[in-house]
Amino acid sequence: MRILLTGANGFLGRRIAAAANCVHAPSLREARKDEVKRLIDNSEPELIIHTAAISDIGECEKNPDASYRANVILPLSIAKAAKGVKTLMFSSDQVYTGSACEGPFREEDATSPANVYARHKLEMEERVLSLRPDTVMLRATWMYDLPLYRHDKTGNFLMQIIFAGLRQNAVSFSSQEFRGVTYAREVAELTLAAKDLPGGSYNFGSPTALSMFEIAKSAQKLLGIPENVMDRPKSRNLWMDDSKLRRQGLAFKNTLDGFRQCAKDYGLFKEP
Ligand SMILES: NC(=O)c1ccc[n+]([C@@H]2O[C@H](COP(=O)([O-])OP(=O)(O)OC[C@H]3O[C@@H](n4cnc5c(N)ncnc54)[C@H](OP(=O)(O)O)[C@@H]3O)[C@@H](O)[C@H]2O)c1
Repeated sequence: MRILLTGANGFLGRRIAAAANCVHAPSLREARKDEVKRLIDNSEPELIIHTAAISDIGECEKNPDASYRANVILPLSIAKAAKGVKTLMFSSDQVYTGSACEGPFREEDATSPANVYARHKLEMEERVLSLRPDTVMLRATWMYDLPLYRHDKTGNFLMQIIFAGLRQNAVSFSSQEFRGVTYAREVAELTLAAKDLPGGSYNFGSPTALSMFEIAKSAQKLLGIPENVMDRPKSRNLWMDDSKLRRQGLAFKNTLDGFRQCAKDYGLFKEP
C-alpha cells in the first residue's frame, strides 16, 4: 500500500516510518494550499497519515497564529486535497481539558478545551470531519519511548523517570492528575491498523485507572529505580474510554502493560 506520511522526522512519524514503508512528505511548515494539493496529486497515495503539527502546548500558547496554521489550516488543506484517499490525522487527549464532567471520556462527550493547542485540535477535528467524514481522527495521549540516536531531544515520561533516577532526584507527578501515557511504538503499530476504521474521532492510547503519581511509582519499581515521586499539586482528568476503538477490534495495552512492553523491548526490565 502506498502511504504518504507527513511529519516523518517527528517523534511519532519516525516510529511509523520504521514500522511501514512510507513516502515521506517534505516539511509542510511553509506549504501553501496548492503545494499541498500538488504533493498529494503527485504521490498518488492510497493512505495518508498526517502527523506534522505543532505538538508543544507551550509553543501554541505563545504563538497561536502559528498553531492555527499548523494545527487547523494545514490539516484542512490536506483534507481538501485528499479527495477519495483514506486519511488518518492526529488529535489529542487535550481536547478533554476543561471538561465539566469526570473521565473516562467518550468521544461524543461535550468538551470545552482549556488551552490553545486543544482548541485548535478540536476545531481541526470538527472542520475536517464536516468536509471529509471518512477521515479518522486519533486522539493520542502523551507518548514515550527511548530517544533515537541524535533525535527526540524533547522530554517524555520514560526519559523523565530515567533521568531523575540517574541523578537520584525525585520526579514530580500529581495524585490528582489522571491520564494514560502510551508507548509510541505501540501507537505507530496501531496507527497502521487504524486505516480500516470508519471515519470519526477515536480515543487512541493506553487506558488506565491510575493517577500519574501511581504510574510514575510503578514505572520506577519496574525499572529498579528507588521509588522517589513527589506529589505535585495539579488536578486534571483526561482519562479516555477506549470502548469505541475496541468495538472496531483495536485495543492498546493498559498504561502499565505498555510500559512493561517498552522496558522488555529495550532490555530495561528489572522484574524477575
Ligand atoms: N508527542 C506526544 O506525546 C503527543 C501527544 C498527543 C498528541 N500528539 C499529536 O500527535 C502528532 C504527532 O506528534 P509528534 O510528537 O510526533 O510531533 P512532533 O515531533 O512535535 O512534530 C512532528 C513534525 O511536525 C512538523 N512541524 C513542526 N512544526 C510545524 C509547523 N509549524 N507546520 C507544519 N509542520 C510542522 C515537523 O516536521 P518538519 O521538521 O519536517 O517540518 C515535525 O517533525 C501531532 O499531531 C501531535 O499533536 C502528540
